[in-house]
Formats: sequence, C-alpha cells, structure tokens
Amino acid sequence: MNITPFKAPLGARIEGLDLASPISEALSSELRELIHKYQVVLFPQQTFTAAEQLNLAKTLGPVRSRKLPDSYFSPKSSYDTPGIAYVSNIRDSDGMPTGIIPDGEMWFHHDTCYTEEPDKFTMLYAIEVPMHGGNTRWANMYAAWNTLPSHLKKEIEDKRGLNVYDYATIERPDLNSLEKIEHAWQPAVITHPHTNHKALFVNRLMTCQIEGLDETESFTLLETIFDHIEQDQFIYEHTWRPGDFIIWDNLSTVHARTHFELNDKRRLRRCKVSGEKLM
Ligand code: SIN
Repeated sequence: MNITPFKAPLGARIEGLDLASPISEALSSELRELIHKYQVVLFPQQTFTAAEQLNLAKTLGPVRSRKLPDSYFSPKSSYDTPGIAYVSNIRDSDGMPTGIIPDGEMWFHHDTCYTEEPDKFTMLYAIEVPMHGGNTRWANMYAAWNTLPSHLKKEIEDKRGLNVYDYATIERPDLNSLEKIEHAWQPAVITHPHTNHKALFVNRLMTCQIEGLDETESFTLLETIFDHIEQDQFIYEHTWRPGDFIIWDNLSTVHARTHFELNDKRRLRRCKVSGEKLM
C-alpha cells in the first residue's frame, strides 16, 4: 500500500488496497494503527457493496447498529441492512429523504458523544456527490488541546461537558426539555483510550454545558474553545468523489459538513465501530 500524508494537520491517502475483498487480521490491525496515527484515512476509488463495506467494518471492531430515535424522521430505507445507514438528501417519490441527516451544513461534532459510549470509528463511502459543497471537514483535537492557552486548559481540564443531540434541529437544543432528548456527560478533555494522548472532547453542535458553571459562564467558555478548535490550522477539508471511502477516529477529531443545495444529490453509505466509556 502507498501512504501519502495530507498537506494538512491530519489525514492520509492510502492507495493500493481493494477493501471490498476480505482482509487478513494482520492488515486490519495495520489499518487500525493507521487510523489512530493519521486520524482520517482516505481510500480512493473503492467499489463496495453494502455487505462488503460491513464486512470490512466488522474486521475493525464491533459494528454499531443503532437506529435513530422514533421521534426523528428516519427513513426505513436508510437501514435496510443492520449496521449500515445512508446519509442522503435524495427524495423518494413522496418527496421524503431516503437518508438520514439529509440536508445542508452541519456544525462540528463527535458522533454519538451524547451516548455513554461514543463511537470509535466512523466510515463513509461516497456513492453520489454534489457538484458544489457538501464537503466534510475534520479538526485535529490533539492539536487543539495542545495549543489551547493554559488558562483555558485549567478552566476545562477535569470537568465534564453535557452533550446533547436533538435530531429535530441542526442547532443546539433546548436544555429545558432534556428528558425527551438523548444526552450524556463526557470528560471535556479525554485521554485517548488507544494512543494515550490528550484530546479536547467538546463540540459546537452537541456540547451545551460545562459541569459546575452556570449557563452564561458555560456559553462564554465553550464559544471561546469552539472558536479555537475551528481554526483552519487544525482542519482538513475533503471534497468527495464517488468511490472515496474515508474512515476516521471519532475520539481525536470533530467533523462538520459544508453547505450544499437541496437539489444537488448526495448519497454516502455509513458504518460505525462502537466505542467504550471515556475517561
Ligand atoms: C456526519 O456528520 O456524520 C455526516 C458527515 C457528512 O455527511 O459529510
């Protein structure tokens, strides 16, 4: 395989592998190491069926198979195969999206940080991509932590953040109706369970409050930290091509999506590897 690190603060392109074919335990272990090392790995020009993609995911760890809550409109067709979901804005004949998180921009987030055991890896396979936009951006949360000014490190280290996600909105949810919305307290700074490096673990879309601070204090501190995380110096932005397959470390990165038009078709196939309780 050929590995080319991106000219960016994270990420690498890996060529010379056909991931649709069964892979050995040795190769899968090597891939896990590469994901941990580069945080985002791109395998261009892959050709996958859903079953082949799922098989690959299974070699990397236990696959997370979880439907969105019933309160959210989650098209049945997105989940034909357990462990597989489609992220798509393409509408069916009734005008309903055929995929989850269908439209437009999404703020930076860690997948499922609002559950007790956030996902370890997420992987997306590009089937149809928009002409303009719909790029995915990842920020390196090790670098964001390492460069955080020391007074902010002191304010946030050893505290927990409240992570909440309301599938009905693309902005931060109303904290007054938490019992109806999935939420979990997580360390605001984690020690990555595999690399042992420290990483910030808060994000603009889902982290709403810092333990021990009132709403205004939390908001002020979090906005400052989000602005720090989202600087270009920590970010790789990917313009998708059909056949691109990207796997990322969900614990040491946050990701976001840029705007794209409703009629500009986008369809990606997603699998996830389950994580563990964070410290
Ligand atoms: C996601 O946030 O999980 C989806 C990212 C994307 O659609 O690019």
